[in-house]
Amino acid sequence: MDSHWRSAMNKILVVDDQRNMRTTLALILRGAGYEVTEAENAIEASTCAAENYDVVITDLRMGETIGFDVLRCIKEASANSEVIVMTAYGTIESAVEAMRIGAFDYIQKPFHEEELLGRVSKAIEKRRLSQDVAHLTSEFKDRCQLEHIVGRSPAIRDLLARTVRVALTDAIVLITGESGTGKELIAKAIHANSRRADRPFIPVNCAAITETLLESELFGHARGAFTGAAVARKGLFEEADGGTFFFDEIAETPPTFQAKLLRAIQEREIRRVGENKPVTVDVRIIAATNQDLLTAVAEKRFRQDLYYRLNVARLLLPPLRERREDIPILLSYFLDKYNRKMSASARFHENVFEALIQYDFPGNVRELEHMVEQAVALVNNGLISADDLLPAPSASGGETLSGSSRPPRLLAGVVDQAERTAIEQTLAECEGNRERAAELLGISPTTLWRKMTRMKITFENKV
Ligand SMILES: Nc1ncnc2c1ncn2[C@@H]1O[C@H](COP(=O)(O)OP(=O)(O)OP(=O)(O)O)[C@@H](O)[C@H]1O
Ligand SMILES: [Mg+2]
Repeated sequence: MDSHWRSAMNKILVVDDQRNMRTTLALILRGAGYEVTEAENAIEASTCAAENYDVVITDLRMGETIGFDVLRCIKEASANSEVIVMTAYGTIESAVEAMRIGAFDYIQKPFHEEELLGRVSKAIEKRRLSQDVAHLTSEFKDRCQLEHIVGRSPAIRDLLARTVRVALTDAIVLITGESGTGKELIAKAIHANSRRADRPFIPVNCAAITETLLESELFGHARGAFTGAAVARKGLFEEADGGTFFFDEIAETPPTFQAKLLRAIQEREIRRVGENKPVTVDVRIIAATNQDLLTAVAEKRFRQDLYYRLNVARLLLPPLRERREDIPILLSYFLDKYNRKMSASARFHENVFEALIQYDFPGNVRELEHMVEQAVALVNNGLISADDLLPAPSASGGETLSGSSRPPRLLAGVVDQAERTAIEQTLAECEGNRERAAELLGISPTTLWRKMTRMKITFENKV
């Protein structure tokens, strides 16, 4: 646990008109190390609420005041407190209504000490997460505009520090990591934090265009250089002058192109296709790949000299399953993001964090983001549970989520098979339109292309 966030004692307000109940609750909570304040009625509660409690535990029926009013008062006075309502009446309706108004959880009287403490610590965890998001966001914004990169794991903190350091130099950067880990995000952050920030950032997806197009797009061409080249055109390299060039999926480039790229990097000048006169360009190069470039070099798919040229500053993005502590904060971050975007107020069921922290996220952060986005759009009572987020278990019973007894080695094959089926079915549905299929699958067209290549899936594009 991160002691930094727990250094201050968590503050809890207990609201109940029954003295007995109040004192007992306070006793239990103090015994568990919380700082507790007691309030007898709604008026007292709302004066206290401004104190910024982490959690407020309130009865739903007190004298003539109805509990919902207490709840509203508390939410108004201290919007950031998590509220747990107690109900003695066993009516699930009032609890549901309370959650609709903004309570985090409810507990039915009579309850056991452990049940109370369990719910309180969940509420505190929830509050800590929203504070983390707010804290990280403002910290990065102030320091280095890295506000869009969320994570609290040592790996991400280290990566951010290295990103900032490398941004201050003009070095070529090679970013590696699995699909969906945030390679493009980091590339943009490097640019945004460099002296080139107000010049263009030009991303080129090397896998998506053919060699000839890639060449003329990058280097430009002379008039009449090839059929259709009616006028001379500047290439992207010239457009990017003073800025940053991002070669995404660099491993997918053909060796002949790699040679030209290497020359451009070494000589800091380019030649338009069909022209001999060199043009000097000043661009910073960032390249990304999710392949192991050394293997590509060994297999002669990637030029060794270009590899050495690119491998100056290396940033490795760890997959999400290797930094699971980032999962909760990413879930909260994307929930906020899509709630805002869709003017929704969806919340996570308490089972979400526990369940998703076990999930392997083969599609990394992109998969997590899509899960949350879809759930916010689809869930109808505003409460997102783990089942709404996780993919349905596959028929073979090899679902990606399970307890600690899961044999992780076998998972890869199961995931592969599930991926293959999903890709083939979606492609069939979209009549081979890959852009559309990628969209339905919630992955980038490049990722789809790559998966198809790896799994040797062929599909005639009829569009
Ligand atoms: N640490 C993070 N914080 C917030 N959002 C993130 C983070 N990492 C990734 N994302 C988001 O996840 C999505 C995928 O990220 P990105 O496109 O940068 O991945 P990638 O590594 O380039 O993937 P691919 O190899 O498939 O192209 C984006 O929407 C990005 O904003
Ligand atoms: Mg990418």
